Amino acid sequence: MYLRFTKLQNLYKIDIKVLSLLAVKVLLMIIENKIKNVEEIIKKNKILGNKICLIPTMGSLHKGHISLVKEALKMGEMVWVSIFVNPTQFNELDDYEKYPRSLNDDISKLKKLSHKICIFSPSTKEIYTNKVKSDDFDFGFLESIMEGKFRPNHFNGVATIVTKLFEIFIPDYCFFGEKDYQQVVIIKKIIETNFKETKMIICDTIREKNGLAISSRNCFLSKKKFMESAIIYKMLVFARNNINKINFRLLENIIAKKINEISGFELEYLDFRDANSLKKISTINSKKHIRAFICVKVNGIRLIDNIELK
Ligand code: PAF
Repeated sequence: MYLRFTKLQNLYKIDIKVLSLLAVKVLLMIIENKIKNVEEIIKKNKILGNKICLIPTMGSLHKGHISLVKEALKMGEMVWVSIFVNPTQFNELDDYEKYPRSLNDDISKLKKLSHKICIFSPSTKEIYTNKVKSDDFDFGFLESIMEGKFRPNHFNGVATIVTKLFEIFIPDYCFFGEKDYQQVVIIKKIIETNFKETKMIICDTIREKNGLAISSRNCFLSKKKFMESAIIYKMLVFARNNINKINFRLLENIIAKKINEISGFELEYLDFRDANSLKKISTINSKKHIRAFICVKVNGIRLIDNIELK
């Protein structure tokens, strides 16, 4: 059984703290959309010594998100999934409007995993009041490479919502997927600066049977393009297998040619970078961890992925 907490609270005039404790006893799922109420529940739980796990999402939950939630459930602590399609991280209005939304399905998927999962699904007004605008952060060169370069202001939007969520939940643990590696590096910086008590758990990329990294955007691909998109991971594996044999420039050219020759496919970037700093690497260096980062536009749909090379 799940009900909106605010509705229950208004109906029976029950104190939110009492309601949250009651929920655990009678197997109600907590679904909240008001920041004030979440803050009260969090405060109460922190006093009781419960730790808080937070999985920020934009909903349309897929196997990748579910793997993060399962990882959080293993901790045996209070698990919150936030579901909010954050307008300030989209650089095109059309992309924001078309982004898949499926709150009821998301709730059912989470309920199947455990009724103990708590959901925060605020409105845009609740998060941004009347000013739907990102704050200004300074992530240095990270803002002008890869996703930062092709999606201007994207990381300011991500940092704005993640900071707002962290301020509400003050999470002990937060969970993010390695597929969005550049986002992970940026959020690590936010944590180092402002949320030192929060520990970040980074989870492996979950893949379709054909190797394609699972993403909410995959639903926009036709069956044919979905199958053909297997080339993205295949080329990353090709890079990993050949890193010691072929120089970077030639490797890039081979991969670009293979991808661009498929109809509707366009390689946006393929970069070899230091796994920690994300600085570009042009030759093999035995001491460095190197990752390959790729973005391919498939009929206009941007698909990103990355792999550890060495
Ligand atoms: O990775 C995402 O889904 C989003 O960028 C995040 C971290 C939930 C912020 O909106």
